[in-house]
Amino acid sequence: MSSSPPPGVAPGTDADAGKREHWSGQTAFILAAIGSAVGLGNIWRFPGQAFENGGGAFMIPYLVALVTAGIPILFLEMGIGHRFRGSAPLAMHRVTRRGEWVGWFHVAICFVIGLYYTVIIAWALSYFYFSFGLDYADDPGGFFLGDYLQLGEAGSLTFDVVPGVALPLVLIWGLTILVLALGLHNGVERLNVIGIPLLVVTFGMLAVRAVTLPGAADGIEALFTPDFSALTDPDVWVAAYGQVFFSLSLAYGVMITYASYRRRRSNVTGPALVVAFGNSSFSLLAGLAVFGALGFLATQEGVSVADLEGIGGVSLSFVTFPAVIAQMPAGWFFGALFFASLVLAGLTSLISIMQTISAAFQDKFGWDPRRTAVTVGIVSAILSVIGFSTTTGLYLLDTVDQWSNQLGIVAGAIAMIGAALWIGRRGTELRRHLSAVSTFRLGRSWLVLVNVVALLLVYMFVSKAVSLATEGYADLPTWYVLVFGWGTVAFLALVAVVMPMLRWRRDVEHPDIWPTHEQLELEP
Ligand code: PHE
Repeated sequence: MSSSPPPGVAPGTDADAGKREHWSGQTAFILAAIGSAVGLGNIWRFPGQAFENGGGAFMIPYLVALVTAGIPILFLEMGIGHRFRGSAPLAMHRVTRRGEWVGWFHVAICFVIGLYYTVIIAWALSYFYFSFGLDYADDPGGFFLGDYLQLGEAGSLTFDVVPGVALPLVLIWGLTILVLALGLHNGVERLNVIGIPLLVVTFGMLAVRAVTLPGAADGIEALFTPDFSALTDPDVWVAAYGQVFFSLSLAYGVMITYASYRRRRSNVTGPALVVAFGNSSFSLLAGLAVFGALGFLATQEGVSVADLEGIGGVSLSFVTFPAVIAQMPAGWFFGALFFASLVLAGLTSLISIMQTISAAFQDKFGWDPRRTAVTVGIVSAILSVIGFSTTTGLYLLDTVDQWSNQLGIVAGAIAMIGAALWIGRRGTELRRHLSAVSTFRLGRSWLVLVNVVALLLVYMFVSKAVSLATEGYADLPTWYVLVFGWGTVAFLALVAVVMPMLRWRRDVEHPDIWPTHEQLELEP
């Protein structure tokens, strides 16, 4: 922390104290940010991605992506939130008068993702319950797609709600709405302060068991055996950058929002590093646990790990892992631990997604936090049940995810960097701000890196857009791809265009909430 506060802000106080909610302290902030970062992306996405993209060799692009893009963009987002003190649209509006739409674009992505991220948590909740009776043990694949999801035909659309999916989904939404309604301090913060340590315990126990199973070493070896030829494949690099962005919740407006609840004069980059390394460590732990377990399964079945089916995608957690559990001594217990971990990790991420949406509406219209949270939650819950708990929900989930998460998010990241550094020209200001409040100074190289990352993101965006436009996706019919794939992008764009046209609540520029730039100006 630097010695003197910015002029106009009394030492140790916040100009906006009393108006904006705050984390109770640094630990709470770190746990909440880790809660957002550590999610389904670590437990199930990371191991599959690593395995598919060069095994041990994937660690190289992954670490490069973490250091060159993950950490610098995390600094940028937290810097924007902390300096400009607002939800994504408000902070971006303060960055530049032409930046508000970027924040709404992020909020729209959060809204879309929230609708189906919840569904996966709901599956995990069901599977937690099934673990006690080992219902899925006889035929994990048939059980998941048939008995449980009652999956219909690909590329079709039904509104046949599957009660077994809808019920846990409603429960998850109810819990989410409750936590949001309790407020930042009593709800969101408490969930993370309890949930994250608990997750470390449940997943830690599971990991210890998994790596001590017979055959575990073979699985871990399969994960880490490097295929160096993968390093020359641009898709592997794109996958690594994509994984880092998703996993650190970057370019969703989440980290802007969370950092805006940090007190004005408080360390930002230090906690950001803790979050980044904590998150990657968790991914690595998950890699060891999941592949240890797969090594065991392969040994039991007398095949090699590479010949196992269903290592990537949805089936890893809901088909392949249940097959492991079925063969494990005391499998029900470890099954329960695994699915409880998924629920915990998912819930703390989901809360960050929903808080980002709710904060945006509170800032824009001056709405009451509780009522906003409940309204946003109920609208999302209804759409989520109607769209994704049906017999064709899985296909919809997969399609919407491709376009919003793989394409939308890259556009959102480019737009954020462009608005902050190229249009708003806030680079030096943010660098000074972060250096002044944090434990270490950021050099100019930080800004250079962020600019380079932006160029890389443009490449990623173009290559993904071209492949989706020319090759379609997963053999789905054209109408389906147009409506639910490109339609999702159109929705994101529509929100980004329309929301900035609406008027801000009147006091948004009021100095009680927002000290003038002169007041905030820090010594160089
Ligand atoms: N980072 C979370 C995960 O790894 C996902 C997430 C994305 C959370 C976007 C918040 C916002 O699962």
